[in-house]
Amino acid sequence: MRGGLTRRTTVASALLALIVCGVFVVLLVSITQLRDAEAKARRSEQVLVVANGLERQIVDVQTGERGFVISGQESFLEPWEAAQTAFPGQAAQLEKLVAGNSEQMARAERITQEGNSYIRNYSIPLVAAARRDPESVRTATAIEGGRDRLDAIRTEFNGLIATEQGLADAREDQSDTDVNRAIMAAAGGLAGSVLLIVLFAGYLSRAIVRPVRQVAGMAGRLAGGDLGARLPEGGPGEVGLLERSFNTMAGSLQENREELAASRTRIVTATDHARRQIERDLHDGTQQRLVALVLDLRSIEASTPNELSELRAHLAEVADELTEATDDLRELSRGIHPAILSGSGLPPALKALARRSVIPVELQVDVPERPSEEIEVAAYYVVSEALTNATKHAKGSFVEVKVQTLDDTLHLTVRDDGVGGARPGRGSGLIGLIDRIQALGGTITVNSPDGDGTEVAVDFPLAGRWRDPDRISS
Ligand SMILES: Nc1ncnc2c1ncn2[C@@H]1O[C@H](COP(=O)(O)OP(=O)(O)OP(=O)(O)O)[C@@H](O)[C@H]1O
Ligand SMILES: [Mg+2]
Repeated sequence: MRGGLTRRTTVASALLALIVCGVFVVLLVSITQLRDAEAKARRSEQVLVVANGLERQIVDVQTGERGFVISGQESFLEPWEAAQTAFPGQAAQLEKLVAGNSEQMARAERITQEGNSYIRNYSIPLVAAARRDPESVRTATAIEGGRDRLDAIRTEFNGLIATEQGLADAREDQSDTDVNRAIMAAAGGLAGSVLLIVLFAGYLSRAIVRPVRQVAGMAGRLAGGDLGARLPEGGPGEVGLLERSFNTMAGSLQENREELAASRTRIVTATDHARRQIERDLHDGTQQRLVALVLDLRSIEASTPNELSELRAHLAEVADELTEATDDLRELSRGIHPAILSGSGLPPALKALARRSVIPVELQVDVPERPSEEIEVAAYYVVSEALTNATKHAKGSFVEVKVQTLDDTLHLTVRDDGVGGARPGRGSGLIGLIDRIQALGGTITVNSPDGDGTEVAVDFPLAGRWRDPDRISS
């Protein structure tokens, strides 16, 4: 099961803390061991110093007794006595220093014992004998009598010193091993921590930074109008939640826009239908009746006797006025819904618009097949409104109208060379066009810099929107 990001972050941090703690523990243990080894090294040093001192006391005892025996001078007995006095204390100190090592302890005890024995049983009696009778002890046998004892003591000293030296060397080796282990642990811990940090940074970048960047990119696409933009789902924990919520939001936005477009289309279609109905009623009803009235009046006028010339002139005047009213009505009904558009299509309807325009129009229409009715009607109204605006606001010298179908799109541009400054929203014409065009999924841009003319450019997607429903769109 995949955990949340908080859990993963906590686990990674705990792992890092564990590694760092482990390194510190190893370092602390190594430092303690090093301090211990140092204390032991100091003790070994003391052992060696005290052992050497003790050996010197024995040598002083021997030198003193020999000097006195051979020369009879009392001055030899000063260091002899001092050595005797110092020996027990230093021997006890040595025993204390080697107390932790049974082998060394046994040696120290033997040294004490043999040293004491040498002093008491050999040296003191020899000196006493020399005092009594100097000549009796000035023999090689007497003087060399203590050699065996001294050799035994020296052997013990050599053993003790060599063993202590060996212990010190072994401890030094152990210290080196401890230091190396501490360095290895610190280096390993550091490398492990760096590796973990790098891995975790990589994971964070993959699990958080990349998805967040994707969300930002998709949000940009949404803001740009691409409501079909969706994120791949499946990110860990909270990121997965963010991706799913983003997709849900994009889904509802798209749904809402589709609903809005559908309702706009319904409104535009209903309006067009009503306008066409009114145009038909005017054309087939009122207009026909007015034409019939004109014809009636003309026939009454023709049958009126010449004597009633005044009445005849009056009838002709009424018939003329009625004809003008009929023309006005035809013009009005054309504005409501151009019958020529439904009958003959876009090219003739636009030609009729251009003919009627006050401002000269250059018209280029290249629409070989008829688009669906709502597209034709929308294109017609775009040209009609743009021509009216050019006449009303532009103060230009001409208008250029281009309409063509290319790659299943109807492209339409109306350009004038007037004063520019067209702003949708100041009136209802351009805004109405925008609604109508967007309801059909089309786009409109109004480019109208101040003083540099106005261009209205419109594109309608035509796929599946042809008059002939069997036409296969390319
Ligand atoms: N071809 C143009 N040249 C200069 N200004 C224009 C042009 N077309 C539009 N305008 C300016 O943009 C404004 C908005 O135009 P729009 O067609 O929406 O409204 P209108 O023409 O003022 O009113 P309505 O179209 O409702 O009768 C206009 O009032 C006008 O100031
Ligand atoms: Mg207008």
